[in-house]
Amino acid sequence: MTLKLLSKAVFSKAMGLALTGALLAGGGAMAQAPHPEEPENIQWSFEGPLGKFDQAQLQRGYKVYREVCAACHSMSLLSFRNLGDKGGPFYAPRYPNSNDNPYVKSLAAEYEVDDIDSETGDVIKRPAISADRLPSPFKNEAAARASNGGSLPPDMSVLAKAREGGPDYIHAILTGYRDPPAGLKVDPGKFYNPYFPGDLTSAWSGDPAHIPHGGVIGMIPPLRDGLVTFDDGTKSTLDQQAKDVSAFLMWAAEPKLNERHQMGAAVMIYLLLLSGLLYASYRKVWKNESH
Ligand code: HEC
Repeated sequence: MTLKLLSKAVFSKAMGLALTGALLAGGGAMAQAPHPEEPENIQWSFEGPLGKFDQAQLQRGYKVYREVCAACHSMSLLSFRNLGDKGGPFYAPRYPNSNDNPYVKSLAAEYEVDDIDSETGDVIKRPAISADRLPSPFKNEAAARASNGGSLPPDMSVLAKAREGGPDYIHAILTGYRDPPAGLKVDPGKFYNPYFPGDLTSAWSGDPAHIPHGGVIGMIPPLRDGLVTFDDGTKSTLDQQAKDVSAFLMWAAEPKLNERHQMGAAVMIYLLLLSGLLYASYRKVWKNESH
């Protein structure tokens, strides 16, 4: 009975594989939109089991977000005080409670948020405080699309974890704009980007076997050399700005990464010590026994 079931399972699996194979082979014969280009693999400080965010880089990244991206992209899951949390861009050991961090307060105070006047009930504007979330640049999705030629700038709170390639992908989008190859029709307000997922088949009048990689994106290239001035004297190239803001977005999406890595290392050390101990006691217990 079990054997029968098993052989049935094996058979259907084999059929499935054969079918997929046939489909894949069939698909290969038709012209198919190629995948977007593979993003460059960047060596981030936070990669690897012992990786950590580079605080200076996070500070520069916040500045790029604040001065450029925040004009279109919200980060609605982030509160100002998070910027001063342990591992965050403006953490200072003197202010374990980030709500007290004067720098974080001053960053919040640059923004205005809606509030309700407790006496009249009217909607009023007031300067943001540390506990507020970062306000969105647009009132709602329709307004965001209307200002961006119909495209919606996605919220960036967790973008670095929501996209395959994470910070590598974001960096690639920002640095990857190219002139469209001859034969590709790009509508006004749209830009060719080989790293942006899309299907250019219908916009391509060239050789059907060589449809360009990537897609057209509704975001005007946001960065250029020297656009943001870094307070720490780092040279402000397009590439540097793109790396720093990508690292910042990775931090926003996974603020506990430093702790997670530290915990991982502690667990490994603990396990190593434990194995040593177990081995020693094993030797001791079996010392006088012949194997
Ligand atoms: C003028 C408005 C504007 C600015 C400024 C801007 N963006 Fe965008 N961004 C957009 C729009 C609109 C889209 C959606 C494009 C689309 O769907 O075709 C977008 C899309 C993106 C995407 C692709 C998202 C995805 O869905 O995969 C990334 C990554 C991105 N932006 C990063 C940034 C970063 C980082 C900055 C700051 C350096 C920035 N953007 C500044 C308008 C903007």
